[in-house]
Amino acid sequence: MTFTAMKLKKSLLLISVLCGVATAFASELKQGDVWTDTDGNPINAHGGGILFHNGTYYWYGESKGENTYRSPGIDWECFRTDAGGVGCYSSKNLKDWKFEGIVLKPEIENTRSDIHPTMVIERPKVIYNDSTGKFVMWMHIDNAAYNYARCGVAVSDSPVGPFVYLRSERPNGSECRDMTLFKDIDGSGYLIYSSEGNSTLHISKLSDDFLSQSGVYSVALKNQSREAPAIFKHGDFYFMVTSGCSGWSPNEAEYAVASSIMGPWKTVGNPCSGKDSDKTFYCQSTYVIPVSEDGSEDYVIMFDRWNKSNLIDSRYVWLPIKVDGENIDIPWNENVPSFKD
Ligand code: DGJ
Repeated sequence: MTFTAMKLKKSLLLISVLCGVATAFASELKQGDVWTDTDGNPINAHGGGILFHNGTYYWYGESKGENTYRSPGIDWECFRTDAGGVGCYSSKNLKDWKFEGIVLKPEIENTRSDIHPTMVIERPKVIYNDSTGKFVMWMHIDNAAYNYARCGVAVSDSPVGPFVYLRSERPNGSECRDMTLFKDIDGSGYLIYSSEGNSTLHISKLSDDFLSQSGVYSVALKNQSREAPAIFKHGDFYFMVTSGCSGWSPNEAEYAVASSIMGPWKTVGNPCSGKDSDKTFYCQSTYVIPVSEDGSEDYVIMFDRWNKSNLIDSRYVWLPIKVDGENIDIPWNENVPSFKD
């Protein structure tokens, strides 16, 4: 395994033995088990992403409601829960997660609000704007039939909220569904989203304050019907893992590589290997966490293992990514990677 933590493991084990303390690296956590927060409650942060800020990791995700039901009058498997806003958990070690609350609350009184419980709030991601000092959240906003197809933006002075919802839009006039954010090392922000009836991904450079689009955008994976984008950069290359479009049901992941975030993106193939890799381990991508402190070395991909008939009980699968030049490999491992403490 390529984690910084793993590189330190041997020396820390030695120190542990010398000091007579238990190793910090014994991971009892299994992929797809119920992962609990520090209060012992199941973590409810689906389609999520991670912000690393001032030594703390913040995990933002969809807060699913207790009841899963099918949207009436829709002929595809449109399972949903009431939109419960965006939850946040914080951790110093990517292992012990403290619930920080619902940092973007649904607007219950206003039935016309984008973030009313009858709407869809999915795949929230947060990046920090170095110039304004604000934390900016973008998310997929939709109606129960998924034909509103917009992205919403919210802002906060603190990583743990409260986030103030500003508005939704169709970026550059185009539909927006599954999405992610990417902040490049020069501080620029990008919104990457499934568009044109989910046939094509768009990559839109955000404005300097991250609160709107700059007007500069490109298309990627044209007519390849990809969703659930998760992006990271290693060395000279940008990598994007995506899923196919099959609702809550798993399909085969693919990855693409580019030497510029704006493309051109070249599809390489399935990054997953081992048991059930043709079905992405019964999961769907959502985010890639740069694990090492300088963000340059080690990467963990976050997947959701959806439970469409009980969405709040969807589980999490996190796996290390092995990078070799323009190629990546995500081998199956039933154990959750051990992180530094
Ligand atoms: C697949 C998407 O990736 C999910 O985020 C969600 O929108 C489901 N479709 C809904 O069916």
